Amino acid sequence: MNSIKKEFDSLVKSVEDKESLKQLKSSFVGKKGKITHFFKQMNGLPDVSKREFGRKINELKGYIEDEIRKKSQEIDKFVKQRALEQELIDISLPARINKFGAVHPITKTIIEIENIFQSLGFNVEIGPEIEYDKYNFEMLNIPKEHPARDMQDTFYVNDNVLLRTHTSPTQIRIMKDTPPPVMFVSPGKVYRRDSDITHSPMFHQIEGLLIDKNIRFSDLKGVLIQFLQMFFGDVPVRFRPSYFPFTEPSAEVDIGCIMCKGKGCRVCSHTGFLEVLGCGMVHPNVLANVEYGKEYNGFAFGLGIERFAMLKYGIDNIKLFFENDIRFLNQFSYMAGKTL
Ligand code: PHE
Repeated sequence: MNSIKKEFDSLVKSVEDKESLKQLKSSFVGKKGKITHFFKQMNGLPDVSKREFGRKINELKGYIEDEIRKKSQEIDKFVKQRALEQELIDISLPARINKFGAVHPITKTIIEIENIFQSLGFNVEIGPEIEYDKYNFEMLNIPKEHPARDMQDTFYVNDNVLLRTHTSPTQIRIMKDTPPPVMFVSPGKVYRRDSDITHSPMFHQIEGLLIDKNIRFSDLKGVLIQFLQMFFGDVPVRFRPSYFPFTEPSAEVDIGCIMCKGKGCRVCSHTGFLEVLGCGMVHPNVLANVEYGKEYNGFAFGLGIERFAMLKYGIDNIKLFFENDIRFLNQFSYMAGKTL
């Protein structure tokens, strides 16, 4: 038995693969193996010796089986190790970083403005870009001879249908379907025959409307000053008398120039102020057109998103919004300016 153990020990050392190990196993503990052979020899022995002999063989058998199991694990480990080396994966290569998409600066500005008005209690409504002449002009108290209705200024689809020239028709759409009070802002695309460094034939506006009982011009001023200072920071705000057919009285609103802080520069034409929106108390004719009772009144306002975005982000050409140059857009990425 000792010589068999020695023989096994020296053989098992030189085994390097699973197949040879299998053969070695069967030549010792297999059906015709050396150990099995011992069991067969036991038959002729007296009972006392049988027990002692049997215990020793079982011990040796257990030892051999253990060693073979260990060797098998060693081979597995070795094979895996060799495969890893041969496959040559360089685990020190840096991972590929997925790029984060960017929200378009116009969308970003719309979301910021919506958030401010929602925090003040306004809803968000959406109107169509292809609109009836009736809603875009007529019901907004814009008479037939008004210059905005000229073919020079408006894209017509046919005599009664056009591409809306402002978001104000959404006022009509909401009021004719909703009993007062109403309180909403409405962002979207608008179209005008106009194109230069600050004008694009398609641009974006946000409309605002609040109708209830006993609404005063001071409510309009309070809401708009609050909004402008939430959006632009602590800027001076001033109201100038103006004219819109669908509001009376009407005003245009200026903020202190963001670029020069009111000192006067090229952007503000050396006035220290920038015009940012139009507004006014909703004209009684408009309220009558949507059959609102005389006890209701309110205010409306409209602003150009591109202008807000240009001022807030220091963009000097409106074309940048529509060219989709990835270098421009990436600056509005969630990750812009951050390093991993
Ligand atoms: N619709 C106007 C424009 O496009 C803006 C405006 C909206 C003015 C609401 C007053 C009230 O210029």
